[in-house]
Amino acid sequence: MAEELLKIRGLTVAVEGKQILNGLDLTVNRGEVHAIMGPNGSGKSTLANALMGHPRYQVTGGDVKFKGEEILGLTPDVRAQKGMFLAFQYPTSIPGVTMVNFLRQAMKAVRQEDVPVREFREKLLATLKLLKIDEDFARRYVNEGFSGGEKKRAEVLQLGILDPDLAIMDETDSGLDIDALRTVAEGVNALTTPKLGVVLITHYQRLLNYIKPQFVHILYKGRIIESGGPELALQLEAEGYDPVIAKYGGTPELAVAGEKA
Ligand SMILES: Nc1ncnc2c1ncn2[C@@H]1O[C@H](COP(=O)(O)OP(=O)(O)OP(=O)(O)O)[C@@H](O)[C@H]1O
Ligand SMILES: [Mg+2]
Repeated sequence: MAEELLKIRGLTVAVEGKQILNGLDLTVNRGEVHAIMGPNGSGKSTLANALMGHPRYQVTGGDVKFKGEEILGLTPDVRAQKGMFLAFQYPTSIPGVTMVNFLRQAMKAVRQEDVPVREFREKLLATLKLLKIDEDFARRYVNEGFSGGEKKRAEVLQLGILDPDLAIMDETDSGLDIDALRTVAEGVNALTTPKLGVVLITHYQRLLNYIKPQFVHILYKGRIIESGGPELALQLEAEGYDPVIAKYGGTPELAVAGEKA
């Protein structure tokens, strides 16, 4: 039996008083990759931020269980300690801090105990090797002067080092060249294990040429309006979002819910 990792029921989230998520349901089991797609502004990043407990994203209803435990009252660092990981859509640079130091600090913070130098080093080297990342990369300053692809490399490296149970990846469509896309895809593929659940947020269909999600969900105006398998992503590529949205248009009060406020 698949072990349930994340269970979201009726989640509603407001940002600065504006309702963005309007009752979202999603279940992710260990070993599953779920792609969340949807047009700009549909609430994808809001979902990611709310799941990690970003203070600006106010949960107004519903519940979220992670490994069977209600997490909505927990701070972001506690969520991370419990095994949740968020790769940000717009990672910021941290001048003067090398990737190595950053990763070691992050590992300590998540484990809540010191990580012996040797253990950290072994983990780092093994992860670099697995992800085919050059050792020199780890000596650079976090995101300083990184290309789009390198930022993504830093992100998957962090994912590999922290070894979470659930990875939430928020991928922007713009500014991501094919190299960056491949880096994310190959990284996620290399790190996929039977214990890991992945929520891959994108509205870039091409990413899914490299990562094969078992489930594809379409988010629109703060709700999942359609769920399916990989064929749904192919259908989107061929037809765009319009047919799915038109079909959903049969319940107009839901379609406009995200516009109120
Ligand atoms: N911090 C914020 N302050 C004000 N409004 C916000 C904030 N974050 C999100 N919103 C609004 O919430 C809505 C959904 O935004 P969100 O970033 O979740 O969309 P998205 O699906 O991730 O879009 P994209 O595909 O462009 O990344 C938008 O109307 C956006 O303007
Ligand atoms: Mg977004």
